[in-house]
Amino acid sequence: MKQKATLRNSGRPFVFSNFAMTADGKIAFAKDNFIPFGSTRDHRHMMELRATADAVLSGARTVEVTETVLGNGGEKFRRQRLKNGLSEFPLRIIASGSGSIDPDANIFKKHFSPVIILTTERISKAGLKSLRRVADVKIFGEKELDFHAALRWLRKEWNVRRLLCEGGGALHGTLIHAGLVDELHLTLCPRIFGGRHAPTIADAQGFLKLAESAQFRLASARAKGDELFAVFTAK
Ligand SMILES: NC(=O)c1ccc[n+]([C@@H]2O[C@H](COP(=O)([O-])OP(=O)(O)OC[C@H]3O[C@@H](n4cnc5c(N)ncnc54)[C@H](OP(=O)(O)O)[C@@H]3O)[C@@H](O)[C@H]2O)c1
Repeated sequence: MKQKATLRNSGRPFVFSNFAMTADGKIAFAKDNFIPFGSTRDHRHMMELRATADAVLSGARTVEVTETVLGNGGEKFRRQRLKNGLSEFPLRIIASGSGSIDPDANIFKKHFSPVIILTTERISKAGLKSLRRVADVKIFGEKELDFHAALRWLRKEWNVRRLLCEGGGALHGTLIHAGLVDELHLTLCPRIFGGRHAPTIADAQGFLKLAESAQFRLASARAKGDELFAVFTAK
């Protein structure tokens, strides 16, 4: 209740995130060779979640590596979106503090909904100019992206009420550290990637004390096939 009241007053969207994760907590291989490892059920689950979101947020590396266009998942999910009172396609948001995202990336070739790039003053003038040709670029912060301000802006200017973060680990880690993730959807997949350097769901600055760590409550857990679909809500 306390959290809901806080969120209502915060002027930001409800933020939920979704990841497929191996049994050892990895979300990809250490090297950026993108290979989806969740089942088709997990993929459907992702699209179902997207169909409840006004906007989808991804980090620059995820957009680059996965070549995602952050679409609506096709006709079935388009209808679900309309039923949920949402627009046909989600608003698409990319976090790129240095503006490193390639203006020729796939995502900019699809024009079904606006693409917004959240960046910082670290972006070069040339980068800003070329990205402004393909997206709405907004600066929040000097060196670090101020996500508190960015989320409030998304709520106010774009009426984003539900924002789905689809990774990767650097972006999501920042949101977790800032206390900005309200609900976490994890699909635990029956694989182990191993290795110290494979990304996890929270690869930004970590916590150093148990008392300060991000805390969640298990809201639900369902085993389907060989996967476990868990939902955690922020305490
Ligand atoms: N299994 C899954 O469900 C899943 C989901 C998504 C992604 N992935 C995997 O995760 C990997 C990518 O994750 P990643 O952690 O390397 O990258 P990421 O979080 O997707 O993107 C990192 C980039 O986003 C920008 N960014 C993130 N946090 C920022 C902050 N606080 N301030 C400013 N900019 C920020 C920066 O862009 P600039 O460099 O432009 O500053 C940064 O380099 C890929 O291998 C992908 O396949 C897996």
